[in-house]
Amino acid sequence: MSTALIILAAGKGTRMNSDLPKVLHPIAQAPMLAHAMNAGRALDPDRTVIVAGHEAEMVTNAVAEIDETAQVVLQVQQLGTAHAVDQARAVLGEYDGDVVVLYGDTPFLQPDTLERMVAARHTADLVILGFEAADPGRYGRLVMDGDSLERIVEYKDASEDERAITFCNSGLLACDAKMLFDLIAKVGNANASAEYYLTDVVELARTEGHSVTAVACDEVETLGVNSRADLARADALFQTRARAELLDLGVTLMAPETVYLSLDTMIGRDAVIEPNVVFGPGVTVESGALIRAFSHLEGCHVSRGAKVGPYARLRPGAELAENTHVGNFVEIKNAEIAEGAKVNHLSYIGDASVGRATNIGAGTITCNYDGVMKHHTEIGANAFIGSNTMLVAPVTIGNEAMTATGAVITKDVEDGALAIARTAQVNKPGRARKLMDLLRAKKIRRNKETS
Ligand code: UD1
Ligand code: MG
Repeated sequence: MSTALIILAAGKGTRMNSDLPKVLHPIAQAPMLAHAMNAGRALDPDRTVIVAGHEAEMVTNAVAEIDETAQVVLQVQQLGTAHAVDQARAVLGEYDGDVVVLYGDTPFLQPDTLERMVAARHTADLVILGFEAADPGRYGRLVMDGDSLERIVEYKDASEDERAITFCNSGLLACDAKMLFDLIAKVGNANASAEYYLTDVVELARTEGHSVTAVACDEVETLGVNSRADLARADALFQTRARAELLDLGVTLMAPETVYLSLDTMIGRDAVIEPNVVFGPGVTVESGALIRAFSHLEGCHVSRGAKVGPYARLRPGAELAENTHVGNFVEIKNAEIAEGAKVNHLSYIGDASVGRATNIGAGTITCNYDGVMKHHTEIGANAFIGSNTMLVAPVTIGNEAMTATGAVITKDVEDGALAIARTAQVNKPGRARKLMDLLRAKKIRRNKETS
């Protein structure tokens, strides 16, 4: 069956106490909304519609980055969840297929839960996702009659008996699009909050003779994020899950609880990750690579057999080919390091390319920024860059070329050439001892004068 997603994301999230709309707060370096959209992808939806309201422009921009095919509709005033879904009518009112409604602030939904909801549509016209709540608090309660869902009653409107029910509404539902929009048109706001409740479609559907059922999921999946404390807990939960997944995939994490992962971190089998490594967004690490302790990676690719760190920083655009070495206190940004090349100590390689098997000596810096613009440094294959070389970009170093230690390279170096760019050394025999004697005598004189 074809499916369209509606993701509700218009709420302000007052308790976040933030200028950023709630759904854009990050979990594992990706907006909460991206997690919800990711889960929704399991249904291979042919339309995804996000309902935005609070800071809609920011939400729209973020959505475009997450999935450029997703559409954003505006809910100018937040009059309730049914009113929110109704904003998608112009886009999905005539849609031939099912609509699945989810919330932008429930990032832990598992793909198989969505699949179970859609599967339950074979036996019921409307499917609600519920969960057994340890503490049902203010959730809407599901009033069941056997397998059939009678109605959902919001906490504020519930009787004492209804409040005693622990099977709660997650807010998610699946329904034929036309049926859902027909039902929503009939929802009123005569309730304790004077809001248009999406939950009212259950009773309306029953009155019209439709079948309604509830599918249950684990409470963890429906955890909403309402405060910074919830956000921190959500991130911790994500990390625990993501680390366990990596271990299952055959990645070695020496101290799993110290490794920080992003939503899109990809690490291949038999890679080894030492303690205290941070993976920012956009990192792929191939099989068998070694990331040593205290390294920070983002927007980069590390190939098979490469060794990174300890204390390395790989910034966006760092591309490490197979068997490369990037050692301690080395920063690489927007640079390709070709197969077998080594940058082992205390260097900055930015806006550059380094050829195969080239060795970059300790303390090398590509001086890529002139204060206004960035420039490129090209280093050939099998080259040898002497320690403490400053490569003033734009500059090209040829294949098998060498730079002498301490060189400040401002001109291109041709293939096979040795570039020496430093003042020549002068040794003055006996001069050191004389100088020391002079200085000591001076000190004695000064001490006498002041005593
Ligand atoms: C809702 C459900 C409740 C359920 C609970 C689960 C209704 C009436 N109640 O209550 O049964 O137990 O979720 O968490 O649906 N939103 C909009 N526009 C609006 C109102 C809300 O986009 O006008 C969005 C919010 O941003 C949020 C979601 O819809 O993502 C849920 O809204 P919220 O106000 O949190 O609903 P609850 O009162 O928690
Ligand atoms: Mg809520």
